[in-house]
This record gives sequence, structure tokens and C-alpha cells, in this order.
Amino acid sequence: MRLDWDARAKENARYYVQTAKEDWTDEEFFASGRQTVSEEILTDMINICQGTDPKQMRVLEIGCGAGRVTRALAELFGEVHAVDVSAEMIAQATAALASTPNAHVYQNNGMDLKVIPAGEGFDFAFSSIVFQHIPSREVIESYVREVNRLLKPGRLFKFQVQGDATLSTTADDTWLGVPYSDAEAVAMAERCGFEPRYRHGAGQQYFWLWFFKRA
Ligand SMILES: C[S@@+](CC[C@H](N)C(=O)[O-])C[C@H]1O[C@@H](n2cnc3c(N)ncnc32)[C@H](O)[C@@H]1O
Repeated sequence: MRLDWDARAKENARYYVQTAKEDWTDEEFFASGRQTVSEEILTDMINICQGTDPKQMRVLEIGCGAGRVTRALAELFGEVHAVDVSAEMIAQATAALASTPNAHVYQNNGMDLKVIPAGEGFDFAFSSIVFQHIPSREVIESYVREVNRLLKPGRLFKFQVQGDATLSTTADDTWLGVPYSDAEAVAMAERCGFEPRYRHGAGQQYFWLWFFKRA
């Protein structure tokens, strides 16, 4: 995964992060991150914040790429910590976030969150257009367990997996990830200590999951 994503990042990081354009300007690229936040976060503040002032919240992001969404998350929340498997993506995210002192990015090993410094726990975790590229159930479930370890009880991990089982995938394909059915997503939540309270888009490429950490 690291080799493939480093190669993509060196070729054209912003395109592989968001394939809507090949030649993103800074302004367009970060506006698209704000759009993701406005569609997936600002519409869902009751589940995400649960009454807490966003500026008091610590947020975790998995697969931050070149910092597109990370920057928008940092505009809204108090503190953001984000990981990515690719050193090249992390280099680009670090540059993009140079003037954003409340955002912290880390290169990780592609399957757990040990690189995140111990703290008082996270209030919200988010991952978008990342697990849809991961070919291994073991890796995805490792992340779900790791988020459970780091989240405060009752808090939300909102993320998206690949839900279309008709698309053919292979174990070494790091572009089209392993598909999850609704039943498989529910079973994973239960195994990892989450309540799978809402699911949207089962059977589709964009299968969104709302996992609340059990108390
Ligand atoms: C399509 S990009 C999306 C980036 C970001 N989420 C966004 O929306 O702008 C997918 C990102 O996931 C990262 N990634 C892929 N597999 C990963 C893994 N196993 N662990 C952590 N990051 C991974 C890639 O390096 C890449 O930066």
C-alpha cells in the first residue's frame, strides 16, 4: 500500500486524492476539502459533537492524503490528528498545513494508530475515500479496533467503505478495496466494540457507517 500510494503521490498526489481534476489549484483543492466537511460533517453536527463546542474537540482522521480535508477539519475543530501510510502524501500534507498549528499529521504503518501520541482521547474520528482503496479486511478491522481504543466512550467514528460486491477486486489491488455488505459491517462493529447505529449506501461504492463507541 505504501509503495503504491507513494508512487501515486509522486506522480500527481492531488489527482489521486480527488480524481475530479488532474490539475488542482491550491484554492480549488482546499475548497473541495471544505465541501466534504460541509456535506459529511456540518450536516451531522448532532451525532458528531453531541453538544460539545467543536473548538473544544479533538478529532482523528485516517488517510489524510495531501491534507485536503484535514485543513477544513482544522478550521472547524479545536485539534486534528491525522495519519497516512504514504511518506510522500504526509510531506505534501505537512506543507499544506504549515500555517495550521492545530493540525498534526503522522506517517503510520498502514494498519494501526500507535503513532498517535497518548492523550486524553478523541471526540470524533473520520475517514473518507480511504477504506474504499484498502484490499484487506484485516487492515480495515485493525483500524476500527484502533479507533475504538482512542475514542472516548459514546463518541462517533464516521467512515466510508466500499459496498459494491459486484466490482471485482483482488487481494493486491490498492485502488479498489474489499467490499462490505451491511451484515459484514454490522458484525465488524460488534466485534470491535461499536454500536453500528446508522448505515447509508449499502451495496454502493460509497457505503457510509456511523459507529458509536459502546460505553
Ligand atoms: C483517495 S486518497 C484520500 C485522501 C483524503 N482522505 C481526502 O479525502 O482528501 C486515499 C489516501 O489513503 C491513504 N491510504 C491508503 N491506504 C492506507 C492505509 N492502509 N493506511 C493509511 N492510509 C492509507 C493513501 O495514501 C491516500 O493518501
